[in-house]
Amino acid sequence: MDKWFESKLMEIGKLNCYIKPVKSKGLKLDANENLVLKKNFIKKIAIKAIQKEDLRKYPLQQLDNFYLQLSKYTKIDKKNLAIGNGSDQIIDLILSAFGKEKRVTTFTPTFSYFIDRCQLYSMKIDKIPLLQDNSIDKKKFIQSAKKSEIIYICSPNNPTGNQFDKELLIDIFKNLDDKLIILDEAYIDFANYSFFSETVKSQNIIILRTLSKAFGLAGARLGYCIANENFSSIFKNIIQYPYAINNISLNIGNEILKNSKYIEKTIKIIKKERKRIVDYLNKTNNDELKVFQTDSNFIFFQVSDINKYERILTQLKKDKISVKAIGMIKDREGGHIRVTIGTKRMNNKFLSSLSKVT
Ligand SMILES: Cc1ncc(COP(=O)(O)O)c(C=O)c1O
Repeated sequence: MDKWFESKLMEIGKLNCYIKPVKSKGLKLDANENLVLKKNFIKKIAIKAIQKEDLRKYPLQQLDNFYLQLSKYTKIDKKNLAIGNGSDQIIDLILSAFGKEKRVTTFTPTFSYFIDRCQLYSMKIDKIPLLQDNSIDKKKFIQSAKKSEIIYICSPNNPTGNQFDKELLIDIFKNLDDKLIILDEAYIDFANYSFFSETVKSQNIIILRTLSKAFGLAGARLGYCIANENFSSIFKNIIQYPYAINNISLNIGNEILKNSKYIEKTIKIIKKERKRIVDYLNKTNNDELKVFQTDSNFIFFQVSDINKYERILTQLKKDKISVKAIGMIKDREGGHIRVTIGTKRMNNKFLSSLSKVT
């Protein structure tokens, strides 16, 4: 008998697996969560969300309530919104519905989960290297994108942190109106502009958003997308699972969105800390350490001496600080590190650990 399942399983087993942040009791600056948000604030909301719930029942009213609140907060009609179990799940569902046998254009480095997922669906992937200043090589990108059916742009980009110039993206999109464009705005709350008003009018752009970052709900798994009415409706009614998000997470999300003023306060603190850290690093370090423009809740820097890069990682580990080691990037010197911006105390701990490395 043809052992097709065994060989397919072996093929899948050879794919990259998404490297999750480490489990650590130390300072976790490796997953871009909102650590400025008070743990107790979320806890109180979560307890309330559980108390009012009857888990014998499927989420129905909770879903309507969440959509209503999301629409109120984003000022986007709920007809243009669709939610998922984290934006990871939305990516997966979009690729499973539209990705088979298709070619995708994106750039590198970018959000690795997206690439891994494309591989799972046996898609062809063309990754155009970002330029040395992390901007998009427009000519090469459009050239490749014209040969693809799907385009993935993460802006602000993870791990580089920068949001791409709006006019440049408009220019790129103008050339690609027959493609499916997925614009990942996971870090939009820390950035300068959103594409949502263009998106709701377009036929081919889907914006991805999440409550895992600015809204401090990585553990609740709530993501959403913004798209034209037709896509949103088909996604909600046909592509998405009937009950993808549990009652409690929906209630928590609803309550958090009602408290958006507090979230905005934490975003302000993070942005202020971002500037402080970047200024400090630019002032105190020589050419060995290059900090890039960031419009996210993390910083991204290059250590041109690979030995120093390793020494930095060793020191951070010794001080129980977890960061995301990105490592080497093709055609660039040394190694690269991504660090989440936390509270002032956390950030000082990171800076102090860094300063021990010579
Ligand atoms: C760019 C980007 N998109 C999507 C996600 C996934 O977010 P979620 O927690 O909503 O699945 C992440 C998480 O790190 C991310 O960095």
